[in-house]
Amino acid sequence: MENKEKFYITTPIYYPSDKLHIGHAYCTVATDAIARYKRMCGYDVMFLTGTDEHGQKIEEKAKEAGVTPKEFVDRIVTGEKGVLDLWKLMNISNDRFIRTTDEYHVEAVQKIFRKMYEKGDIYKGAYKGKYCTPCESFWTESQLVDGKCPDCGRPVHDAEEEAYFFRLSKYAKPVQELLESGDFLQPASRVNEMINNFIKPGLEDLCVSRTSFKWGIPVDFDPGHVVYVWVDALFNYCTALGFLNDEHNDFEKYWPADVHIVGKEIVRFHSIIWPAMLMSMELPLPKKVYGHGWLVIDGGKMSKSRGNVVDPYVLAEKFGVDALRFFLLRTFPFGSDGNFSNELLINTINKDLANDLGNLVSRTTAMVEKYFGGTLIDERQADELDNELIDFIKNTKARYEKQMDEFQLHLGLEEVFKLIQRANKYIDETAPWVLAKDEANKPRLAAVMYNLLEALRAALTMLTPFIPESCEKAFEQIGADASCRTWDKAGEYGVLPAQVSVHKGETLFPRVDMDKTLKELEELEHLNKAPQSKPVLPDVSIDDFAKCDMRVCKVLSCEAVKKSEKLLKFQLDDGSGTPRQILSGIRKFYEPEQLVGKTVVAILNLPPRKMMGQMSNGMLLSAVKEVDGEEKLQLVMLDDSVPAGAQLC
Ligand code: MSP
Repeated sequence: MENKEKFYITTPIYYPSDKLHIGHAYCTVATDAIARYKRMCGYDVMFLTGTDEHGQKIEEKAKEAGVTPKEFVDRIVTGEKGVLDLWKLMNISNDRFIRTTDEYHVEAVQKIFRKMYEKGDIYKGAYKGKYCTPCESFWTESQLVDGKCPDCGRPVHDAEEEAYFFRLSKYAKPVQELLESGDFLQPASRVNEMINNFIKPGLEDLCVSRTSFKWGIPVDFDPGHVVYVWVDALFNYCTALGFLNDEHNDFEKYWPADVHIVGKEIVRFHSIIWPAMLMSMELPLPKKVYGHGWLVIDGGKMSKSRGNVVDPYVLAEKFGVDALRFFLLRTFPFGSDGNFSNELLINTINKDLANDLGNLVSRTTAMVEKYFGGTLIDERQADELDNELIDFIKNTKARYEKQMDEFQLHLGLEEVFKLIQRANKYIDETAPWVLAKDEANKPRLAAVMYNLLEALRAALTMLTPFIPESCEKAFEQIGADASCRTWDKAGEYGVLPAQVSVHKGETLFPRVDMDKTLKELEELEHLNKAPQSKPVLPDVSIDDFAKCDMRVCKVLSCEAVKKSEKLLKFQLDDGSGTPRQILSGIRKFYEPEQLVGKTVVAILNLPPRKMMGQMSNGMLLSAVKEVDGEEKLQLVMLDDSVPAGAQLC
């Protein structure tokens, strides 16, 4: 067996706190296309993905759901339509899948932590700072943006606890040298971002343990502490190969990683903290970190709280997995953000897949069937007109390869589509339907068909990493057996047998009806936007419920309570003939004059309460909603036809 060169590629391991959206699929599909490309080029590829299952956010979410953290993550990772299901659906060809709750990983991380501690690179101190729970990130005051988390813009909270620290400051210089040397971090624009935002202001030591929650890998020599989730997560890239464990044994073979593909917001962890910890562990450094952009919607982040989560299951079912994979990688430059829209998705499918590629396959196979009964004749008459197409076939491979090797996936695809468009133009130039009118033109017609099939063969080989299933079908339709599909032949001409047999099969990419499909998707998204409610509380008896005196009230007047940022003071008509005063903490959400005359709902029989020196005789009912990660209140209001004093039942 030949000795293949290895290629170790990873995706970030997904944080299973919510269901996945199309943005998560973007990262993994891109990595999959690169892994498939490298395999096709003959590399011995190890493609790793997995799940990052510890941390405070998961502990909190599990509590809310009334299950243990492990039960919670199991549901999202292995449950129906979970992470594993999604990767299967998206045809992800990972060679390995790691869960950070896997025992071998847990034990290895404990050994790693101990090793850095014994070396003196981890020490005990006290942590005082800011913490963003959704991002599981510590921040110093100076790193906050408008007092909020610089990554997600959500509020942070004070955190102070005894903690272990990693001497990140010790590695500032070698990390800076690494970032400045060669092409460790790509795209190059991310290098300055890291140096200016993180290294130049001074790298502070990193807090690497927590004591305020339990769901993490315990520090084995100080069990009140759990290992900071990013230390736990980053080392997955090594433990999944067998580093400090017996579960796997190919660390020597595959480490260091050839590339870590990561989203732009976690470049900091991968290009600063990760190399520093590897230096501390005296391990070789990854060759490259590639920070890709985000899929955004209307310029903003995709998130559940924005109500615009795009469900990959819905999209894959509607358009097919390959069309979805293709769209993600063809439309957006890999290093930059891309604005996702259903319209763009449908346009890309119709233009590139249905029109350019799909038509070329169906027209060519239909013509070979019509003019030659499905099998070409041996005799071919070449023409000067053919040379440009043949050169195109031969040259595209090198151009594609150059882009793919730099992870410019959209540009790699662009090269293939130039070939496809050139071949479509060649049909117009040679007008086979005119040639077919005269039997004497058969050899010329055979040459035209052969050239088209060859252009398709080369294009399909290069498209295989992106749309593997469709290429398999198209290869069969154009009569390309396995020996004609290999990478070494992608830049050659004359690969298909002279008497190749084709058969026109199913339409590979049907045209999508824009208006109809947009409407269907809108309806589905509407359903998707329904807020995920908290679990229902334990039952109460109807008698208990009846004890709450809830009445319809009309707002007679409303004003802000002096010196209070929160309170509004209401005078209400509750139907009794005497105005009732209620205070409500909704000043942030309403202007007082907005509410005068409105029909609201209040509980009247709560014990009176004094707030800011004023009495409140009851409570107005509001609904809690989440907007951009923040809780907001909206008063429950009825239409004006309901009279004051009407009882809720
Ligand atoms: N658990 C960490 C990674 C640890 S790696 C040692 C994490 N997980 S994540 O689930 O939050 O994100 C996984 C990947 O999905 C990240 O690379 C992130 O950038 C990517 N994306 C999440 N939303 C995205 C978009 N809207 N668009 C593109 N990629 C996005 O980070």
